Amino acid sequence: MTMENLRESAAFLQKKTALRPKLAFVLGSGLSGFADKVEGAVRIRYSDIPHFAASTVEGHPGQLVLGTLAGVPVALMQGRLHAYEGLTQQQVVFPLRTLAQFGVTHLLLTNAAGGLNPKMKPGDFMVLRDHMNLTGANPLVGANLPVGPRFPDMTEPYDKKLNKLLLAGLKKAKARVHQGVYVGVLGPTYETAAEIRFYRKIGGDAVGMSTVAETIAARHAGLHVAALSCITNLGTGLSQVKLSHEDVKDVADRAANKFTLALLEFTKSLASEL
Ligand code: HPA
Repeated sequence: MTMENLRESAAFLQKKTALRPKLAFVLGSGLSGFADKVEGAVRIRYSDIPHFAASTVEGHPGQLVLGTLAGVPVALMQGRLHAYEGLTQQQVVFPLRTLAQFGVTHLLLTNAAGGLNPKMKPGDFMVLRDHMNLTGANPLVGANLPVGPRFPDMTEPYDKKLNKLLLAGLKKAKARVHQGVYVGVLGPTYETAAEIRFYRKIGGDAVGMSTVAETIAARHAGLHVAALSCITNLGTGLSQVKLSHEDVKDVADRAANKFTLALLEFTKSLASEL
């Protein structure tokens, strides 16, 4: 993936819409219904955008939605790409790098995650304070793309100011919210009970199969990033139930109203900064 590839993809988007969004969202498993709130939506399938990989996971429609939310121009990835689909992390983050090239400066990543912290219940939310990259890969491996430094600082992957606005939005939506550390793993298996005990012990609060590669690439490109987990289940062994993607989507579906309200509030509160 080269700068030339990125410029081609960004130029393609520029031709599709006159909007120049500064704010982008990535919608995680079961959370893609939020894109229906977008006004004047232009929808472009990933498979129609040069150099984008197609999404293969159920609950991830695989299209870019460009339009406005509460009058604010936005770009939404309705469905994300994951390394467990057989993609390299470079392919996973290509859409976000394209959005940065297209002019996006602020990014909210959302995901479904398993709760590790004993205070968590399914349907709760967690605002990411930090993450651990246990995916075994890094999207910046290879020649450095000249949008950022070779060795990016990771002191503050998640923007404190964005987190504050996100927390305020969630409070308004009357959601149960935690803040914590997201452990990013490759998947697609859910964890073993032993792995969950390990992730708890090393300081994780939630675990999931996305987000960290995206945060790394977005920070490398200079974006302000925040991330929000919907805790769809407790980690393996912390409850009696076996994990399934259907249940994950179900719980995310039921949390969708609060999620939508919180994200709309977040968008409004950010409008003056964009
Ligand atoms: N583990 C990993 N990814 C997940 C989980 C989980 O328990 N729940 C939703 N995504």
